[in-house]
Formats: sequence, structure tokens, C-alpha cells
Amino acid sequence: MEIRKIKGTKDILPDETEIFLAAEKVLRETMIKYGYREIRIPTFEQTELFKKGTGVSTDIVTQQMYSFTDRGERNISLRPEGTPSVVRAYLENNLHKKRLFQKFFYYGRMFRQESPQSGRLREFNQFGIESIGSLSPQIDAETIILGLEVLRNIGLKRIEIHLNSIGCDKCRPSYKKSLKEYLKPKLNILCNDCKRRFNANILRVLDCKRETCRKELQNSPVSIDYLCDECKNHFSKVKELLQKSNVSFTLNPYLVRGLDYYTKTVYEFISPVLSAQDAVGGGGRYDRMIELFGGPPIPAIGFACGMERILLAVEKEGGEKRKKEKLDCYIATMDDKTDEEGFLLLNNLREKGLSCEKDFLNRSLKAQMKDANRLGADFVVIIGPEEMEKNEITIRMMSDSSQKRIEFSVDAIVKEIR
Ligand code: HAM
Repeated sequence: MEIRKIKGTKDILPDETEIFLAAEKVLRETMIKYGYREIRIPTFEQTELFKKGTGVSTDIVTQQMYSFTDRGERNISLRPEGTPSVVRAYLENNLHKKRLFQKFFYYGRMFRQESPQSGRLREFNQFGIESIGSLSPQIDAETIILGLEVLRNIGLKRIEIHLNSIGCDKCRPSYKKSLKEYLKPKLNILCNDCKRRFNANILRVLDCKRETCRKELQNSPVSIDYLCDECKNHFSKVKELLQKSNVSFTLNPYLVRGLDYYTKTVYEFISPVLSAQDAVGGGGRYDRMIELFGGPPIPAIGFACGMERILLAVEKEGGEKRKKEKLDCYIATMDDKTDEEGFLLLNNLREKGLSCEKDFLNRSLKAQMKDANRLGADFVVIIGPEEMEKNEITIRMMSDSSQKRIEFSVDAIVKEIR
């Protein structure tokens, strides 16, 4: 095969599609239970949206976007994340004028040109929520509780929550200043990425995974020591609400998240069974983005989770790897005449609401039985010339291999199967 799929993309084959479908069903049910409604945003947007929303100093915007100029000379990018699009849609459709507080969820493909590895793709499926309009710490807690529940409902057993507050426009500058002073003398020891981040977005130095950089950060100043009263009270309340809701979390002073827009609370859902890419989800407050997009000062918070990464973690935990196919009835035939009768019966049984399949390759009865087994058929209807003469068929129950002859009529077969 000469033409192969592009590095970092994935074929989701039917067995796996069924796992995705089951997870998608669960996620939608859970979101609706918490009052979130689905929004469907475009797959591509003006590049400017992500520059402004995601931020010009993020790796996503500087290195990972699939951007191109279309025939109308417009700068377009495939969406690397959903948050800026949801905010744009909220403002562009004047949703804030209808009801200030609104909860959205979305599910779809995102595109980032990262170097592919386990749990890191260039095209991946992500679901996310955006709760727009409330400054209440209760909403911070609710999003975390919802994230935990949705991940558990999909099948993840072990999830750790990492929590931090990175302050707001009022208190963050003094923290950044202290961090800069602390790191300046160590700059030549830091990796090249961190040297770049030192000027572009110093907070990102904190989540460098390289051992040498981590060592230098051990005694660095931490954001929670620099929070203003408002941020401090907000964070205390979030922690208190989570504790009272029996949600355990780990305070991680190095958690800053890779996007520019966050304010106050930030968090990640970590799977301990994954190695390098262990964050199955993450999010936080972004109280300034709506204003940045020209809207009123409306606060917001949300998170997003990567479906491939979650399913990888479920599999590593020993969860269900593949859904078995299921079929109500398989029709096996023996010669040309019975085969045509089989085809007509197939349609009649489907009309009655049964899932049915037959052989289309003129295979032997033995091969047809094997096929029925592989497809997970509950029953096999065998039409042989001898049966046909007596206007009968043989029906075989696959679970115990018992079989009997019954009248060759759609109603009799349906009754037997039901
Ligand atoms: P993010 O941390 O960039 O946040 O992505 C969220 C999740 O998407 C990650 O935790 C990971 O599970 C998955 N993910 C990200 N990149 C990849 C990749 N290359 N391959 C596979 N999975 C990936 C956001 O996207 C924010 N929009 C979250 C948010 C919503 N913040 C506020 N509201």
C-alpha cells in the first residue's frame, strides 16, 4: 500500500468505533444531567480567533496549528481546541443577551501538529464544557465534580485531580516578577524551550518535564503565595466545596496549563496508569476572554478531555477492550434457490425490527455458521431444500446449540427469536 495515513492520525475501525459510541453516549447523558447543552462549533475558524483566544505565546498557536490561506486569501486554521470558538459563538449569536449564565458542551475532532506518541495525536477527539457567566466558586467545584463523574462513567477507575490557582491580572504580575528574578541566574542551566518561555510566557517554565529544569524549580516561588484577597478567598472556597463533596485532590503549585487565557482556578485530571501523556483532561477559569473578544466582562470556566487518551487509560486499567458485535439473526442457506428465499426473508425480518445478516459469498454451511458466530448472532435460521419443501426452516439458538424446525413464516420466526 503506497498511500498511508498521515502521521498522528488514526483509523478508528468498527470494533473501536463501538467503544467510542458507547463513551459518547455516556458523556452526553452525564453532561445533560448537569444542565449542559450541546453546541456544535465549526471545524475551522479564522486563525486570528486562536491567536487572540488561545494566545500568541502558547505552543499551540506558535507551533501546532494547521493553518492555511484559502482561495479568498483568508487565514484559516483547523481548530486546535474548542474554547475560543464557543466564546465566539456565544457572543456572535448574542446568547449573553438571552440568558447571562449558560452551560455548553461540545464533542469533536481537534487538530494539533505535535510530535505523535502514545496518547498524543495530530487529529484527536475531544469533549469539553464551557460554563459562562458565573464567578461563583461553586461552578469551579461543579465542573471538577462533573469531570470526575464523566470520566468514571466512561470507565476510568483511577483519576487524580491536580489543582492550583494562578491568580488574576491584579496579582499575577508580582508573582511573575518574583519567578523571573528567581530563574534569571539559572537561565543558562534551563533547556532551550524554557529559555524561550522565560521571555514569552514565564509560567510555562513551571511545567517543563525535563529533569534538569525540574531540579532548578524545586524551590521556586509558587503562585498561591502571591494571590490577592479575592483570588485567595475564591480558591479557599473551591477547595472547601470539593472537600465537603468528598472529592480528593492534590495541590500542584507547578500546574499552570499550556494556554494563555487562564485566571484563578486551574486543574487537570490525571490517569496514573498513563506515562508521559498522563493528563486525560484539564481546564480552568478564563474570566477575561469574553471581554478580550469585545464582549462585556463575563467570567467563564471549562475543561476538555481527550477521548483517545481516556480510552487508552481504560484499556490499561484492564477495562473492556473491544465491544463484541451483536446480531439477532443470521440466515444460512444451501443453494441458489434457498439463497434467494434467504435474501427475501432478510428484508422481512429487518422490517420487523430485527438485526439480521446473511452470507453473500456462496459459502458452505460450515463457513456460514462460523460467520454467524463471529458476528455474535443469537439465532441462525437455516433454509435447506428439504426444509423448504415442507415449508419449514431450522432455527438454531447459538448460546446452547439447540435447534428445532418451525414453520417458514416471518411471524413464526420473529416469535421464536423474541
Ligand atoms: P488542553 O489541556 O489543551 O485544554 O486539552 C485537553 C485535553 O485534550 C488534554 O488533557 C488531552 O487529554 C487532550 N489532548 C490535547 N492534545 C492532545 C493530542 N495531541 N492528542 C490527544 N489528546 C490530546 C484545552 O483544550 C482547553 N480548551 C480546555 C478548556 C476548556 N479550558 C477551559 N475550557
